[in-house]
Amino acid sequence: MTRTDPSWQFTRAITRRPGESVTHGLRAVDTGAPDLGLMLKHHADYVAALRAAGAEVVELPPLEPFPDALFVEDTALCLPEGAVLMRPGAPSRAGEVAEMAPVIRGLFAEVREIRGPGTIEGGDILFTPREVLVGQSARTNAAGIAELRAILADWGRSLREIRVPDGVLHFKTDCSLLDGQTILATGRLAQSGCFDGYRVILTAPGEEAAANAIRYNDVVLMAAGFPETAESLRKAGYRVQEIGNSECAKLDGGMSCLSLRF
Ligand code: GLY
Repeated sequence: MTRTDPSWQFTRAITRRPGESVTHGLRAVDTGAPDLGLMLKHHADYVAALRAAGAEVVELPPLEPFPDALFVEDTALCLPEGAVLMRPGAPSRAGEVAEMAPVIRGLFAEVREIRGPGTIEGGDILFTPREVLVGQSARTNAAGIAELRAILADWGRSLREIRVPDGVLHFKTDCSLLDGQTILATGRLAQSGCFDGYRVILTAPGEEAAANAIRYNDVVLMAAGFPETAESLRKAGYRVQEIGNSECAKLDGGMSCLSLRF
């Protein structure tokens, strides 16, 4: 089935404020503890930007037992047909889903669950108008993808599996949807050919961390500090808003990780 529903037009979002335990969040490389005060400021800027873009934002309180719980995207996939509760591959994050489930059930009539034994995290899922792309990564495995594929088939959606480059946390660490035809991606991901058939805008050399952006209605939210990539997007006609992300970046988190959008 060919679908035309825009995957960047939304009315709502869910976010969760970071708590003091965020200093214990997972990270691939330790570049120092995040500064909670600065992270809270960046987080408030992010929520304000979503609201300015038209979002009604459900702001959840910190969850101290789960240091990475601010990265709500990994707990669910939100689609027009309904939501799917994920099954994170990071053991320290598994309990985040039970905390998110009542919120999702209160907002969606149709809620499915990944029951396991496979694992899958929302950061590995890119929803475009024509397909759902899912990256197999250190967190998302073949069994988790198979379970999601069966759920999506019930909803008339096709899933295409991608392999995430070694050393990259999630598929969307390295790509974002800018519009129905256009993807922002790193060269290391795009060179696999996984976006053939789409228009691809590459992040500038050395600015790979800019790839984790979000299009929310008329604005592209991207992490501050990547001037060449921001300029490329502006030249391509996108309205770009840069948000400080230095503290979330220490935990390998970015713009998409911080919200569920629907
Ligand atoms: N620190 C985010 C994650 O590893 O899931």
